[in-house]
Amino acid sequence: MSVIIAPSVLSADFANIQRDVEKINESTADWFHVDIMDGVFVPNISFGFPVVKAIKKHATKPLDVHLMIVEPDRYIQDFKNAGADILTVHLEACQHLHRTLHAIKEAGMQAGIAINPHTSVELLTDIITQADLVCVMSVNPGFGGQSFIPQTYQKVKRLKQLINDSGSSAKIEIDGGVNINNAPLLIEAGADVLVAGNFVFSSADPLKTISDLKQIGSHTL
Ligand code: DX5
Ligand code: ZN
Repeated sequence: MSVIIAPSVLSADFANIQRDVEKINESTADWFHVDIMDGVFVPNISFGFPVVKAIKKHATKPLDVHLMIVEPDRYIQDFKNAGADILTVHLEACQHLHRTLHAIKEAGMQAGIAINPHTSVELLTDIITQADLVCVMSVNPGFGGQSFIPQTYQKVKRLKQLINDSGSSAKIEIDGGVNINNAPLLIEAGADVLVAGNFVFSSADPLKTISDLKQIGSHTL
């Protein structure tokens, strides 16, 4: 199976969101990565339900919604109603992560866990079999266009081992500073999903950039 590419709409042009969503529809990308920031869990505010609904209205591919918010349990059903297909919460934001993952699945979505750069993958040992996705943050969350943290490669290798040992079917997603240079090593380390915001939307030809990332995945795997 080739790598899943999830362009992050945080870097899209919000004055032309329909146009940018349709561009991704036409591309070889697999998912839309949708970043929700509350100004508390992270030092930035992105957007809320009306924008997620607007993206959903035009998107022909699944919405991979990444919640960078405190108390995510309060909004699970709202994100389902807004069109989320995959809902990812931060381990650092959840007191009862097992309960939260099950609430997401009961609402009819796939459940993901995101971990910040300082959070060890070993903390996932007793929850990994409950997750459909682990989002490894390769920047400190809050902003698009930041530099990739190289320590991520080691984390991904350890996480892949943990997933294999546990029999979990969780996918490994990498989020932050992904580009054509680090993508091959990330895939080799065990990444299944690559999120790319700035690298895709700031490029001269986003469709070609997406297809270049996708090609790396099909060659390496
Ligand atoms: C960062 C967000 C990322 C971001 C990625 O807090 O979670 O999804 O949009 O953007 P780039 O690829 O520009 O780092
Ligand atoms: Zn994200």
